[in-house]
Parts: sequence; structure tokens; C-alpha cells
Amino acid sequence: MAPSLLSTITIACSAVSLAVAISPGYSYGSEKVRGVNLGGWLVLEPWITPSLFDNTGNSAIVDEYTFCQLQDRATAQSVLEAHWASWITESDFEAIAAAGLNHVRLPIGFWAFDVGPGEPYISGQLPYLQKAVNWASNHGLKVIVDLHGAPGSQNGFDNSGQRMDYPTWHSNSTNVARTDAIIKTIADMYKDNPNVVPIIAPLNEPAGFDGNDVLSVVKQYWRDSYGNIRYPYGSSQQSNTVVLIHDAFQPLSYWSGFLTTSDNNAQGVAMDTHIYQMFTDAGNAMSDEEHIQSACGQKSTLSGFDLWLIVGEWTPAMTDCAPYLNGRGIGSRYDGSYPGSTAVGSCTGLTGSATDFSSSYKSSLRKTWEAQVITFEAAAAGWIQWTWKAENADEWTYQAGLNYGWIPQNPTSYEYPNICD
Ligand SMILES: *[C@@H]1O[C@H](CO)[C@@H](O)[C@H](O)[C@H]1NC(C)=O
Repeated sequence: MAPSLLSTITIACSAVSLAVAISPGYSYGSEKVRGVNLGGWLVLEPWITPSLFDNTGNSAIVDEYTFCQLQDRATAQSVLEAHWASWITESDFEAIAAAGLNHVRLPIGFWAFDVGPGEPYISGQLPYLQKAVNWASNHGLKVIVDLHGAPGSQNGFDNSGQRMDYPTWHSNSTNVARTDAIIKTIADMYKDNPNVVPIIAPLNEPAGFDGNDVLSVVKQYWRDSYGNIRYPYGSSQQSNTVVLIHDAFQPLSYWSGFLTTSDNNAQGVAMDTHIYQMFTDAGNAMSDEEHIQSACGQKSTLSGFDLWLIVGEWTPAMTDCAPYLNGRGIGSRYDGSYPGSTAVGSCTGLTGSATDFSSSYKSSLRKTWEAQVITFEAAAAGWIQWTWKAENADEWTYQAGLNYGWIPQNPTSYEYPNICD
């Protein structure tokens, strides 16, 4: 575009909109987000590091909350510190950058910032968050700081810190106020470093499936987070930090218009959606071909959304075979060990170490990886795979995919470029 035309457009735009446009540290919408989650590091997940849970010898320890509550505190503390210092290091950032990725999404829990009375959580994660941001800077990667657990739990999942049947974050205004304060802290930490932390995710996966009681609180929380992240200077000065809200498991149509420029001229908002095919009986029962069709079929669902849309979690894995994936002590639908499920087949050879994966299984992982990447790049602003590494569930990990060949060294080198045609 000619410079003279550019300046004409700039003048025309400033005439219609008074607010200065955000200038993010990454060109969301024009350059694809290609990234990986650093799951199981600063927030424990039993399926990612089963050894930390098994080593406790206590089957009642099912999440980070009970990990801190139901064993000797000094032991819990030293195990956590050793884990933080070793699970992810600068060499992981180096390998992630070398694989052609541009973003990492880094889950962290509220308890890294604020442990309330009666909460057993152990903190000490913040120095590692700071190291991660420095490592990302060293290797040219962008960090999405992702608040993955809120006080009271926003979804009841073990990865929120506390597994429970019905989450309690939304029903207690103290919980929400504490979360707002943490987002203000995170926004303040990174407001002047948008080239390394261009985007903050104020809450992972709030339980919109529990209905309007949750959704009404979530919508107000997104609006408050917008204010906290985009106006961190205590004045009308705006940051360049993008706000990555989550769809709360609602169809994208539910969010149509929300925090767009036509909604009080909101700018710099992106939508996160998570796509998994293995958390239902029907999903586990699908054939490889059906999984590919399902991935390709998401193109029409994702296309045309009015915010930058990032598929912030997805995986080439197509079964729930990974031990503890559904929670420690809970089986899998695929082999029928999950309560009420019907077995599809044996999980042997479908999870664990890739040294035990057949070549046909590895090709099917390649196909489900490519079908999703091709679809998400065509229909959305990018993708972030869950997850970089796991102790013993290679089908999920970007690291094993690179090592064993079902993920290409360059994420745009497809073996099946026409898989969705
Ligand atoms: C609300 O949550 C706070 C912690 O964030 C807790 O101290 C308080 O007891 C809770 N209130 C109720 C009514 O559960």
C-alpha cells in the first residue's frame, strides 16, 4: 500500500473514532499464532506429572490443593520447588522457538499471587514466571500469561487447582474481587513489556456449562478484566496489552458483538476457544476418518468471528486413554473404565511412550495434527497445542511429536496439505 494512501486512511479513521487504536506486540489477525501450552508446570495436573501424585502414596491427593493439604508441608514444598526448577527450563524455550512456534501460553494459579486464610496452597511460582518471560525474550517468543485457577475454582477441574463437583468462584463476590486484584497485578507487571507479553488471559475455562449464574458473572468479569488490562496506568492512558477472554464453552454466536469496537469501542480483545474430541463417549468411539472430518468441519464454525479467534487448547490425541486425564483415580471412556462408559477398545499402545506407538498410530496422529492446524489457520487467528511435555502421555505432547515425527519441524510443512479438501 502506498504511504500516501496509508496516511489518508489514518486520517479517515481518526475522524470516526476518538480512541487511539491499540498497537499490540504481535500482529494478531495478520500473522498466525502458532504456539504450545506449558501445562503442568506452575499449576500441577495429575495426568501431566502422575509421578508427583503417585509418590505421595495417598490416593486422596488429586489436585494441587490436596497436594499441599494432605501431606507433610515441607515435603510438598520441596517437591514443588524441585518441579518448578526442572520441568521447564530455558532449553525448552529454545526448542519451542526452533520448532517455528511464536507463542507459549503459560498457566498460573491465583495462589502464586494470593493465598487466603484456610487455603493450603504453597506459593513460590512467581520467580519462575519471571524466568519464563526472560527466556521467551531471549528466544523471540511471546508469552500469554494465563490465569488458570481462581479462588473457589472457576470450573471444578483439577487443573483449576481444586477438583470439585460444582465450582464456587462465581457465587462468592470475594473470590471474584480477589481475582480482579490479581489481574490488575499481572497487567501492571507486563504493561510496559508488550513485545514479550502482548496478551493476558484473565481466566481459563470458566464453567459456562453450569448456566446463567456462571455466565452473568463471567461476562461482567470479562468487562472488568478489559478495564484492568487495557487501563493499567490509573488514568485514561491505554496499554497495548491484548485481553484474551474464553468462550466459557458457549457457541461463538453467544459472544457475537461482545467487547468489539461496536461494544463501547472496545479494542484489543481476542477470543480463546478449546477444541477436544475425547471428553465424550461418542468422541472416543469415532473412527480416524470421523475425527479428521470433525476437525475439518470446524472451519465453518470458527470462520468469520468478530474478535481475533485463537484455538488456545487442542491436541492430536483422539482418546482419553492417558492415565488421570479425567482425574486421578478416574478411568477412561475409551477402555470402558470410566463410570458409565462403553469400551471402544484397549488403551495399550495409544498412550504412554511413543516408543510403543505403531507406525499407523503415528500417521493418524500426524493426520489429526495437520487437519486441525490447517483448519485453525484457515478459519482463526492461530492455535496453541496442549501441551509441550508430559511424563508419560506422548500422544499429547508437542515435544514427542517433534521427536517421533508426527509433528513437522516446520509447522507449515504439511504431509497432507489437502486433507480437508
Ligand atoms: C467467599 O470466599 C472467601 C475466599 O475468597 C472466603 O473467605 C469466604 O468464606 C467465602 N464466603 C462464603 C459465604 O463462602
